[in-house]
Amino acid sequence: MHYPYQITSLEQYHRDYRRSTEDPEGFWSEVAEQFQWRRKWDRVLQWNFREPKVEWFGGAQLNITENCIDRHLSGKGEQPAFIWEPNNPEDRVRVVTYNRLHKRVCQFAQVLTNLGVKKGDRVCIYMGMVPELAYAVLGCARIGAIHSVIFGGFSAQSIADRLEDAQAEYIVTADGAYRGEKVIPLKSVIDDALIGNRTVKKVIVYTRTRTPVSMIKGRDVWWEDEMEYAESQVEKDGIVSFPAVATDAEDPLFILYTSGSTGKPKGVVHSTAGYMVWTNYTFVNTFQYKPGQVHFCTADIGWITGHSYIVYGPLSAGATSLMFEGIPTWPDAGRFWDIVQKHKVNILYTAPTAIRSLMGFGLEPLKDKDLSSLQVLGTVGEPINEEAWHWYDEHVGHKQSPIVDTWWQTETGGVLISNLAGVTPAIPSWASLPMPGVQPLLVDENGAEITGNPASGNLCIRAPWPSILRTTWGDHERCRQTYFSTYEGLYFTGDGALRDEHGNYRITGRVDDVLNVSGHRIGTAEVENAINMHSDVVESAVVGYPHDIKGQGIYAYVICTNLRGSEEDTRKNIIQTVSRIIGPIAKPDRIQFVSGLPKTRSGKIMRRILRKIAEGETANLGDTTTLLDPGVVEEIKNGKL
Ligand code: WT7
Repeated sequence: MHYPYQITSLEQYHRDYRRSTEDPEGFWSEVAEQFQWRRKWDRVLQWNFREPKVEWFGGAQLNITENCIDRHLSGKGEQPAFIWEPNNPEDRVRVVTYNRLHKRVCQFAQVLTNLGVKKGDRVCIYMGMVPELAYAVLGCARIGAIHSVIFGGFSAQSIADRLEDAQAEYIVTADGAYRGEKVIPLKSVIDDALIGNRTVKKVIVYTRTRTPVSMIKGRDVWWEDEMEYAESQVEKDGIVSFPAVATDAEDPLFILYTSGSTGKPKGVVHSTAGYMVWTNYTFVNTFQYKPGQVHFCTADIGWITGHSYIVYGPLSAGATSLMFEGIPTWPDAGRFWDIVQKHKVNILYTAPTAIRSLMGFGLEPLKDKDLSSLQVLGTVGEPINEEAWHWYDEHVGHKQSPIVDTWWQTETGGVLISNLAGVTPAIPSWASLPMPGVQPLLVDENGAEITGNPASGNLCIRAPWPSILRTTWGDHERCRQTYFSTYEGLYFTGDGALRDEHGNYRITGRVDDVLNVSGHRIGTAEVENAINMHSDVVESAVVGYPHDIKGQGIYAYVICTNLRGSEEDTRKNIIQTVSRIIGPIAKPDRIQFVSGLPKTRSGKIMRRILRKIAEGETANLGDTTTLLDPGVVEEIKNGKL
């Protein structure tokens, strides 16, 4: 048995679940025994959700890269840690063994050290999906620097805000990134983000696309030069070493920015030991990983899914993780299936939006593709509709592979509610049962717990699991406000859910002003702020509406002054503005010009009404008597796109 804590039967699930709630400290210390520690913990768990303060494995010391890399070297040194599939299927595949990963991570840790990076410093990483991105992440972790990866689709302005918030002093980027037919000029975006920046000292630039870049003397350095220099420092007589820095269990491992219902994105902070234990435990149990299997998570490392299930979860389990540089529809819509066949993928973990988009191409792209290696399928990021679930089950899994529907969030670090592949039952469109250690509950608007089944309410969690967020960077009060103040003594997820008579959960979606567009979280307030930056815009209101492929689309109601050109031109300019301010992922799908917005007498926009209109449900708008000017509703209804 490779993972003594792997749950192999339904009975064991129930047993472990019960034990994890009755004796969480005993349960998690047994799991934690399986890792490599520099110093063991003094106490397993201390917490309160009032401040909030959560401490797992307090007093322990470790380095997460020793657990993700070094401890596998004796037995698995020549096994692939990563298989890298390039954007262009004709280019060379790269296989990174654990030995090679060890060398590269040691080298990069040395590079960071040479450039002056120290434990606790913030390093911002803005790269495409290349192995060097993983080396950068792990290199930071090896010296205890805090990484903050920013997804390649974010704009210069978004990066600037994050650099400022994190007070980052170092950046790792590339000249460019390939995504299908496009080349994203990453370094040039970074250059724009750095205008006016006063904290960044060094920018390390990896060469991928040979896109022309400006290299500023004293600030910008080439990845290749630095790595070559560091090689002789870390390798002596064929032996590679870079002493990993011992970090405290609760030292921050990384910051990852995510959107909420108000204000700018916040930096979710995850700490080291709890995150390591949880990503490993959930990886091994949700997907029922068996040594030797190839795990393909299609997310980008710029999101939490990539952090937890491309890098930390799989590597800490000594797994083989497939990393894909490109997109599912290039050169054609059969790309995922080609990859599965080519690399004999055993576990495929993707988003409902990708499944729905591929469904749209019919069965042709699947023809003659050998998918027989697949054993487990997974979905994440948004509710999966039954049609997509069945398509995935029939045409990808050939009804032979259990599908895990994994519900979790950036803030939760890893999966909280999911069936366990082949171990607990899969129910189409239900995330189903909580992982051991997770105590979900449903509450009504007043925070009263809804007991009995079936039930419907707002989803909260009663007690901390090891990888709950510890704070929001630089603003602990915001963390308390956002997650721990809505319902006293509970972590509030922002999601609504149903529970059936067996205790299974079905996540119905966000109950706050957060949109989920193609599995990406976007705050309506953020999009509104960006739209309002456009010079002709007076005010705007953004809501989501059902979108066949994206799950939710972005619908913007906009009040303009003196429309300069045609409405069409203004629409394009607004879209361009949002692209500039946030990034292409936040572009509105629909823009309706209106002369007013439905507001209450106290000036609050009634989004409920706007949502209904955007959804096309204009017949039953509910109570509109509290509106300041009910007339605007008629106008908006009649002008609906
Ligand atoms: C929100 C979190 C978890 C990594 C990717 C997204 C929604 C996530 C599911 C699921 C229904 C889901 C929730 C959640 N969500 N997984 N299996 N079923 N909804 O992370 O960007 O932090 O978004 O995604 O609404 O709150 P994120």
